[in-house]
Amino acid sequence: MHVTIRAAVQNDAAGLAQLLRSIGWFKQVQGESESETIERIANYLATDLADASHSLFVAAHPTQGLVGYVAVHWLPYLFMAGPEGFVSELFVDEAARGLGIGSSLLEKVELEAKARNCNRLQLINFRHRESYERKFYEKHGWEERPLAASFTKHI
Ligand SMILES: CC(C)(COP(=O)(O)OP(=O)(O)OC[C@H]1O[C@@H](n2cnc3c(N)ncnc32)[C@H](O)[C@@H]1OP(=O)(O)O)[C@@H](O)C(=O)NCCC(=O)NCCS
Repeated sequence: MHVTIRAAVQNDAAGLAQLLRSIGWFKQVQGESESETIERIANYLATDLADASHSLFVAAHPTQGLVGYVAVHWLPYLFMAGPEGFVSELFVDEAARGLGIGSSLLEKVELEAKARNCNRLQLINFRHRESYERKFYEKHGWEERPLAASFTKHI
């Protein structure tokens, strides 16, 4: 499948909303109307596009619209020369999986990381996900950190 990997633009709100809603994984998204999802994503894009510490790349198909996206946040650390890139979301439309699109989105992130003098990327991949079971990230050179525990606190 031929897609273009490019930075998201404000006009992508509806396409991203459609893609995200079709994945069906997220309580927040499933609990809101389509127009609420579009509005929320439009607000996100407005903030994101104005702030160089975030990147959002989309995979755009010439006739099928947006079929994937990846979000990265560039986090500065006092003890590192360049920022760390935290990949918070990577999704490919179910019908377009296994065709190289997720790999192309990750490649784009790596290129951007190099351009930003970033020497470390990080992400969380739940162990029950198919992507973890099929070692998607390991196949792209990522290493699981056996000594690191992942914590969250819901506010
Ligand atoms: C994981 C994901 C981003 C990979 O993108 P993709 O375009 O399907 O992957 P590619 O075609 O570039 O690479 C193929 C590899 O992706 C993984 N993959 C392919 N189809 C997949 C699917 N339906 N579900 C999960 N992983 C899949 C496998 O590791 C595959 O390698 P393999 O065939 O040797 O097992 C995509 O499948 C997806 O969005 N899955 C659901 C959401 C998800 O798990 N996101 C990551 C959470 S951090």
